[in-house]
Amino acid sequence: MSTKVDLSFLNGIPHMMSDDELKFLFELLKKNFSGKGIIVDLGCRFGASTLVICKALQHVKTKQKICACDTFHWDEECETQLKNHPDKEYFKNNGYLALFKENLSNFIEDIELIVDIRNSNIQTPVEILIVDVMKSEETAQLVIEKYYKALIPGKSFVYQQDFDHFLTPWVQVISYLYRNYFYVYKDIKNSGGIWFFYKKLIPDELLHIEFHTLPESEIDKAFRWALKISNKKKHKGIAAAHVMSYIYRKDKNKAFDLWCQYLYQGYELSGEFVDLQRRLEELK
Ligand SMILES: C[S@@+](CC[C@H](N)C(=O)[O-])C[C@H]1O[C@@H](n2cnc3c(N)ncnc32)[C@H](O)[C@@H]1O
Repeated sequence: MSTKVDLSFLNGIPHMMSDDELKFLFELLKKNFSGKGIIVDLGCRFGASTLVICKALQHVKTKQKICACDTFHWDEECETQLKNHPDKEYFKNNGYLALFKENLSNFIEDIELIVDIRNSNIQTPVEILIVDVMKSEETAQLVIEKYYKALIPGKSFVYQQDFDHFLTPWVQVISYLYRNYFYVYKDIKNSGGIWFFYKKLIPDELLHIEFHTLPESEIDKAFRWALKISNKKKHKGIAAAHVMSYIYRKDKNKAFDLWCQYLYQGYELSGEFVDLQRRLEELK
């Protein structure tokens, strides 16, 4: 579906999405976007995905509001991503919002900028939601309360970019808890992400999740489900997220048991599993 899209317009903007992810986003907008709701890019960073959205809308000659949200704060990874940028020192001291604006300069009037999801107050239906900000339970909850609430049943698509990330287990848990309200639209192979289609309204009373009080049985079911619905390349990260969910709860015994079980099942002691080992050793 996505091989023909030419991404040369990105012109070196650093990004963490794979080409497959960006091309799929372009094609999805080209083929499925109805304009019934806005497009929201949560965790837009330097604007690569936002630019793909703008270019896709331009391609299909459609106008719709785009919300782009980030803290725009310099972090460790900026050190690598912007290492050769001539204005690196400026971004280090002032954040990279100016860089986002420069990258999106041809489309900036169509974009509503939100500096930090904690400051967002969405009032409009959302048709396309890209989520790369569920970095804590707090931001995960904000995405649900503010943005899942605005989705349009039978119309909206949600991209969970961190579906295989081991440090954000609430992504898999939320996707499981809402499994009856979505179906898997596309698991993007060379990436950590999965697109979901929103098929029916999530009742308001389910839009608040107390992650730390969820029963163990629900957590374990969530990860079994996440492994079942995703492609194999995502499994190591998802298995590691399962262990991580108990490390966050400071349940060392359960986390250690799971870590051993996954290694016994054949997951390699490398990458995330070495990181987990260190975290387990540090856990009191
Ligand atoms: C992994 S990076 C995003 C990468 C980008 N989606 C890409 O693929 O190139 C995650 C982003 O989330 C942003 N972020 C973290 N906490 C946030 C918050 N509370 N509100 C908005 N953005 C946040 C970070 O600044 C960072 O740019």
